[in-house]
Amino acid sequence: MKSIASAPGKIILFGEHFVVHGTKAILAAIDKRVTVTSSFTENKTIKVNSELGTIEVPMSSSHEEVESEFRPFVYLANKMINSNQNVNGLEITIDSDIPIGVGLGSSSACCVAAAASICGLFKELPSSGEMAQVWSRQIGDEKEEREKISGMSREAEETIFPDTSGADLMCCQFGGIIEYNGHNGVIVFSGSSGSVSYEISANILIVNSMIQHSTKRSVEKVRKFKENNEKRFSELCDLVNQLMEHYDKLGRRIGVLEDMIKNDITAIGLKMSENQKYLEEIQVSNDTLRDMISSLKEISLGTKITGAGDGGCIIALVKDENLDKVPALLGKDKECFSAKIDTKGVVWKIEK
Ligand code: MEV
Repeated sequence: MKSIASAPGKIILFGEHFVVHGTKAILAAIDKRVTVTSSFTENKTIKVNSELGTIEVPMSSSHEEVESEFRPFVYLANKMINSNQNVNGLEITIDSDIPIGVGLGSSSACCVAAAASICGLFKELPSSGEMAQVWSRQIGDEKEEREKISGMSREAEETIFPDTSGADLMCCQFGGIIEYNGHNGVIVFSGSSGSVSYEISANILIVNSMIQHSTKRSVEKVRKFKENNEKRFSELCDLVNQLMEHYDKLGRRIGVLEDMIKNDITAIGLKMSENQKYLEEIQVSNDTLRDMISSLKEISLGTKITGAGDGGCIIALVKDENLDKVPALLGKDKECFSAKIDTKGVVWKIEK
């Protein structure tokens, strides 16, 4: 018996870094996925296979004894094994088409898919499911499925990144375009699970600088910036929140959430570039990213870093008619693709 789960990667449209300090963020799940397959073995070990290598450790091993990239999987395996005494071994295999360490949610998607796969194997979830459908029913027992996957994936991610805001995890879990507000939870806007249909009818171009980054390190750097510039950091948090949503003197709601209802891609693009200014100010950009952003200037409606910065990817809003100009503007050493928004979130099933 195999338990198979997959979860999408993500981009952050607005609010990365500031969300760690309490602002909102808007994210979108993308059409690149990680698949985690788990099964029982008789080997008295926990074995993890991924493109980063294979580890096989005795069942009694703690997640702290293994290299960081394997920790979330060993943590989840241990947690389930400890509460199910008659298990003789576990094998977990990760297949991913999300580039690693460049801000597209590879680590969070792994944690979400692993939580669903391992919980499914131990029958803590129904034998199959799709988060978008669970979300739209929103009642009784199904809420437990959400809470199970959220809780387990967060614990898994905290083994490598204790300061996570949880935004990436929620996006990889629910799919669609989401507004994440750590205190008040998640609102899903688009996709089959969405309560309101938000649209961005331009291409969301993702360009990879091919420079891997450490989210943990960038988040620590921003924390230091905040300590040294408390007043300005607090102003920037206000500005970021306002970019997403605030009210004018007549009580009308304005901000990018409104722009997305109206599908006003010019206004969305302008706010993305405004958000980039705040990311520059907290020093998570660098010359390579600035060059990439500036090379797309003439065709992009708005361009910014997505994710932790210090490398990783940028996103740009580009109209159809300008898409074929992109390769010449960027040069050959950058990878780029136009992302579609994933609307399923995490899906899981048992295969006999
Ligand atoms: C990383 O994709 C996003 C950050 O805001 C960290 C977090 O939200 O946990 C930089």
